[in-house]
Amino acid sequence: MIATPEGWILTIVPDAAAMSETAADRVAQVIRQKPDAAVSLPTGSTPLGMFDILVDRIAGGDLDPSRVELFLLDEYVGVAPEDPNSLTGWLRRALLDRVVVPITRVHPLPATASDLDAAAARFERELASCGGLDLTVLGLGPNGHIAYNEPGAEADSRTRALTLTPESIAQASAYWHGAVPIPRRAMTMGVGTLLEAEQIVLIVTGQAKASVLRRALEEPMSAEIPASWLRLAGPRLEVIADRAAASELDLARSARTGGSDEEDAP
Ligand code: PGA
Repeated sequence: MIATPEGWILTIVPDAAAMSETAADRVAQVIRQKPDAAVSLPTGSTPLGMFDILVDRIAGGDLDPSRVELFLLDEYVGVAPEDPNSLTGWLRRALLDRVVVPITRVHPLPATASDLDAAAARFERELASCGGLDLTVLGLGPNGHIAYNEPGAEADSRTRALTLTPESIAQASAYWHGAVPIPRRAMTMGVGTLLEAEQIVLIVTGQAKASVLRRALEEPMSAEIPASWLRLAGPRLEVIADRAAASELDLARSARTGGSDEEDAP
């Protein structure tokens, strides 16, 4: 673990498997401390290993998620959870349908509402009535998005519908191997909404993310890379990156030369 000058924590682990273990530990710790914690978990490929570990820990009786309030991060506009291109459906298949102790309190984004603004405001109130997020685990988009806060998203943005970038549509299309249409608009929790979480864990793996992770963590914070705003959370943010994703970080280099306390240090 490296405590950065901005106060947030950088944890560099050897590989994606170690990231998954470490991130699962963070989720488990929050749920053990607060069984009715409000939590959000990401979709995408990065969290799949973490989900496998959580599924195993729940099956082994180590973790009881039955009282967790699970808030979805994002959903395509006009898409219902039962639709084949739903992110809520995706999370169901990747995690919720696999756990032996069900997570019953699931809060999807109201992306099929006729008045999206009013529905987004209701979603925010629902979250507030649970006391806000105790933990949000986030993936990092190739264009720097977090949830579906695309480039241009400001630090104080709230839950809302927005237009996706062609890059994000192509990324999403690949998840379904091009077999389902990806709507051009999505509803997402806002950056400001996420920044209010008690604990924020950004999980990043692979060389392909090295450059965008460097921009998010080591360039001035800006709406161009929405993930950069997470640094405003100071010590409430932990970035868990594998060595490949962290390979372009000066912070990682200086930790190595200045006496590292990386988790994997020899
Ligand atoms: P990925 O997506 O995990 O599939 O790389 C991350 C994201 O866009 O949040």
